[in-house]
Amino acid sequence: METFLVHGRAHTKKWDYSHHLVPPISSSAAYRLGSAERGALGFESFAREGLEPSKASPIYIYDRLDEPVRGMLEESLAEAECGEFAATFATGMAAVSAGLGVLLQHGDEMVVHRTLYGCSFSLFKNWYPRLGIRVVYADLTREGALARALTPATRAVYFESPANPTMELIDIGAARAVCEKYARKGRPRAQIVIDNTFATPFCQRPLTLGADMVVHSLTKNLGGFGTDMGGAVITRKEFSSQMLLYRKDFGGCLAPKSAWPIFVYGLPTLPLRMRQQQDSARRVADFLERHPKVARVSYPGLPSFPQYQLARTQMVDYAGGFAPGSMIYFTVHGDVNHVLNYVARNAYAVTLAVSLGQVRTLIESPTQMTHATLSADDQGACGLEKSGLRLSLGLENVNDILADLEKGLAHT
Ligand SMILES: Cc1ncc(COP(=O)(O)O)c(C=O)c1O
Repeated sequence: METFLVHGRAHTKKWDYSHHLVPPISSSAAYRLGSAERGALGFESFAREGLEPSKASPIYIYDRLDEPVRGMLEESLAEAECGEFAATFATGMAAVSAGLGVLLQHGDEMVVHRTLYGCSFSLFKNWYPRLGIRVVYADLTREGALARALTPATRAVYFESPANPTMELIDIGAARAVCEKYARKGRPRAQIVIDNTFATPFCQRPLTLGADMVVHSLTKNLGGFGTDMGGAVITRKEFSSQMLLYRKDFGGCLAPKSAWPIFVYGLPTLPLRMRQQQDSARRVADFLERHPKVARVSYPGLPSFPQYQLARTQMVDYAGGFAPGSMIYFTVHGDVNHVLNYVARNAYAVTLAVSLGQVRTLIESPTQMTHATLSADDQGACGLEKSGLRLSLGLENVNDILADLEKGLAHT
């Protein structure tokens, strides 16, 4: 897999780039069609039911329908997640909207784990009721919670694992088993959709564990350098036509100029970056756990992590090693703004900024920043605390990261 992520498919029908070691950046809104018949065939075959998009010789027509650089990135993303099909989008939120957009319609219900990225929470809370989609919030870490939340109208179960920002895990295989059991009585089986942004496919491949659909913010570790926004849905072929039609009509497609760096720089370096960031996360989590100014550390790689056993079985890299990832959530005694302002003004290795999963180590306060859109009550229900900080490890020397945190914590 690591070699594949560097090379992609050498012989892709998306684009014959045998003369290039690196595929050229495509930048063409529309394509020359050659003949009226070829143009008509392109429209006729686009997103046609039963057509395998990766095997078909594409007829490119217009960027919003399909495009070669994006297509190559999609082939590699599908492979990295062990899925059959991938579609990319302009942002992670566009991917979340599209994945659920093809599954849900007016009158349907969706069960959602209570702790979510702020904008996903906002999407479900503020926009889904307008579409007539009922969202049922549940604590999916609790046994029996999913079974109690399912109804004959449930079409999707949505969660992040690890959840942003608290890092709690959902047992993907167990969730699938609950949905199967419910469906055995002749009711429709809810589709499991997981946001795998925190783990990345390097640390966890949910489709192999029972999920039906994976969504990603490519803005994070898959892009890896913090230069471009993007999103992806990876799933089974049966959803491919709907997904492409959704993207064509709602329009949130990934620009090829953004697909290119993700394909050329992001994916090939994913394993290397994840290994290094994860090593640093382990060192930093150990340091934080022993620090007197730190109240609690939530990192799946710590033996004190409440779901450590689940982490060990679910978060596994391509070689079968334990892969708890590069994200940490911790709470401090005292005022988080003292730490953050120290970091903002003085730190070298750690940066006060939202986003995550890039070469720089980033720290932020979820209640004031990424999850500020949630009311105080909703933040409480999500398990967020004002004293909480989210840390995304980058590629700096870990000793420099530790030195910045040590000095920052001295200021609480
Ligand atoms: C877990 C998770 N999902 C989705 C998103 C949305 O991604 P984007 O900002 O690319 O729209 C984010 C962004 O922070 C995220 O953390």
